This record gives sequence, C-alpha cells and structure tokens, in this order.
Amino acid sequence: MTGLILQDVKKSFGKVDVIHGIDLQIESGEFVVFVGPSGCGKSTLLRLIAGLEDATSGTLAIGEQDVTHVEAADRGIAMVFQSYALYPHMSVAENMGFGLKMTGSSKAEVKNRVSAAAEILQLEPLLDRKPKALSGGQRQRVAIGRAIVRQPKVFLFDEPLSNLDAELRVQMRLEIAKLHKDLKSTMIYVTHDQVEAMTLADKIVVLRAGRVEQFGSPLELYRNPDNIFVGGFIGSPRMNFLAGTITASGGGTVTVDFDGYAGTAMTKTIEGIPDVGSKVMVGVRPEHFTDGGSTKLEVRIDVIENLGGVAYGYAGAETDAPLTIQLNEGHTAQEDAALVTGFDPDRAFLFDAKSEKRLR
Ligand SMILES: Nc1ncnc2c1ncn2[C@@H]1O[C@H](COP(=O)(O)OP(=O)(O)OP(=O)(O)O)[C@@H](O)[C@H]1O
Ligand SMILES: [Mg+2]
Repeated sequence: MTGLILQDVKKSFGKVDVIHGIDLQIESGEFVVFVGPSGCGKSTLLRLIAGLEDATSGTLAIGEQDVTHVEAADRGIAMVFQSYALYPHMSVAENMGFGLKMTGSSKAEVKNRVSAAAEILQLEPLLDRKPKALSGGQRQRVAIGRAIVRQPKVFLFDEPLSNLDAELRVQMRLEIAKLHKDLKSTMIYVTHDQVEAMTLADKIVVLRAGRVEQFGSPLELYRNPDNIFVGGFIGSPRMNFLAGTITASGGGTVTVDFDGYAGTAMTKTIEGIPDVGSKVMVGVRPEHFTDGGSTKLEVRIDVIENLGGVAYGYAGAETDAPLTIQLNEGHTAQEDAALVTGFDPDRAFLFDAKSEKRLR
C-alpha cells in the first residue's frame, strides 16, 4: 500500500505560475478528489504526480520513495483520462493487455491479468469485441481495465466520466466506488461534479488558482468550511451569502445586522471577538432555511422550482445577493409573493467580508 507526500510543489509554464506551492499528504488506500474551477490546476497537479510534467520546484514521494526525478513509467502509477482513446483495430482484451505486452510480460501473464480485470469490471462477455461495438460506459470501463492490469500503486483519474450521459455517470460512479472498495488502492480523482466528489471521496482537496483552499473529508468541508470560497464551492445548491455589519461583539456572542433587510439581526455564539463595525458575510445553506428558524427574513419569491421531493424558491435574482431557499413538503410559498422564512444562527457561517476567512 502506498501513500503520497507533496512538499511545496510548484509548477510554472514559462512565466506563468500555475501551481503555487502545494503541500499534501495522502494516506495509503485513500480516495482523494481534487475539485476546483476550470483552470485552477487540477489536471496539472495530477500530471505532476504522474510524472507527465516535471515540477519546477518541491518534492514528491510515493510510498517511501522520492520520485521527484523518477520517470513516469517507473512511478507505479496508472492514469485514466476523460477521453479513453482505445485502439480501434484491437479487441477489448488486446486493448487492455497492450501496455503489459509492450513492457515484456509473458502471454500467460497478460492473459491472467486481463481476465482478472475483466472480471472486476464485468467485461468478460465483451473481451472479443472491438471498441466501436461498445457503449460509452463500456469503453470507459475498458480504459479503467487498462489501468487495473498494470497493478499500479496509485490510480489517477482525470474527469473519467465527463463524456458520459447522466444515467451512465451514476452507474459508473458506483462502479468506481466498488473498484476502490475491492482493490483498496490509493486513488486520486479529478472532477467538476459535486456529487461525485461528495460521494466518492474519503478526502476532498479544494483548489483555487493553484493553491489548496482546504483539505478534508466531504462532511468536514460541508460542516466546517474555512472560507467563503469553500463554503460556496461545496454543497449544492450553493450556499447563500448575506452581507451584514457587526453591531455588538464580546462575551461569547456576536450580533450582526443584515444589509438590505432593515430590522433583521442575528445573535450568534462565537469564540473570537470580531470588531464592532466590521463587514461580514453570513453564509446560509438553502437546506437550512425553515419556517421555524429564529432569525427571520422576509423575501420576495420570484420563481419556484419543483423537483418532486424538494422545491427551491429563488428570491432577489436581480439583486447582488440572490437567495436560494429550499422549500419542504407542504410549503405555502408562492411565486411573486412575499415569504417569511428563517434560519437557526447556529447553522449560519460567519465570514470576514474582506479576508473572506471564517470567523469562528
Ligand atoms: N502546457 C501548458 N503550457 C502553458 N500553460 C498551461 C499548460 N498546461 C496548463 N496550462 C495552464 O495552467 C492552468 C491550469 O490548467 P489545468 O489544465 O491544470 O486546469 P484544470 O483545473 O484541470 O482545468 P479544467 O477543469 O478546465 O480541466 C490553466 O491556466 C492552463 O491554461
Ligand atoms: Mg483538467
């Protein structure tokens, strides 16, 4: 089993700094997901780990070994990409075994490993088919099979499911979860998809512009975001942010007046003593609005989206502080009408408006 340690890893392409010094410790057997906006450096970080890019500075260890200057082929890593690029003229079995064959494994060895991988991925009935006779999901499974046969110490996945339709994604997501359970290998997985990140990950790395914003289990990030960025990024629909001003502070509590909601204030338990008069953002998740919440807000609902089990009310779309409010069964909200809702201050997050850091 194999963990990874990244120390102050930086990467620049010419004059452009893309990765700004990343420290990361990934335990053996962990499933770690990298998330972050497009262009934040997820693929670059993965490629640095794979050895497909050289770090500009810093060190990288896989297991006990410093691999900073080790060739990609000798790092014991297999990578699965978004585009699966199978060889069209080869069968499924040949595609899966090709890499092994090239590195000189015996025919029997290739056959054994391919059939073991095919069994894990339920590809046995398809081994003689050509890629063009497979569905998208089956092709992606072959690409994963190609990685499994190499028996890597670490699996790297770069948005492997993003070419698949919604239904197949769900199915493949479960298969990848099962694969991790069966193989117990260390896996690093890049995705844009909230649900994939929350459901697959033991730990999530939230990246922004080449820096780690927070690293923790999905629930840690959901319950305890360090800053506005992580608060807004983890959780779907997104956390709401209400601007406010601190009007009283000390003795273990803080009072916030909300801008734009005259007469609405919230008193919340807090350890620190933020300055009176400082600007804050109060983060409230859509699912934390309830009729019974002690901090009341009167809003005007523009649109209601009914999804069956839950509904979402959208308010203030034309303002710079739009709100998404989860409406539970039996709600009485109506479009183009006022709604009094509320939240419990203990469930609200307080952030400094300037530094965007959490006030605890
Ligand atoms: N070979 C390269 N030369 C120059 N710049 C590069 C190179 N590869 C990546 N970049 C830049 O590095 C930044 C990070 O790119 P990267 O592909 O890692 O982002 P990403 O987080 O994977 O984005 P996406 O979610 O869109 O896949 C981008 O600004 C990109 O333009
Ligand atoms: Mg990418």
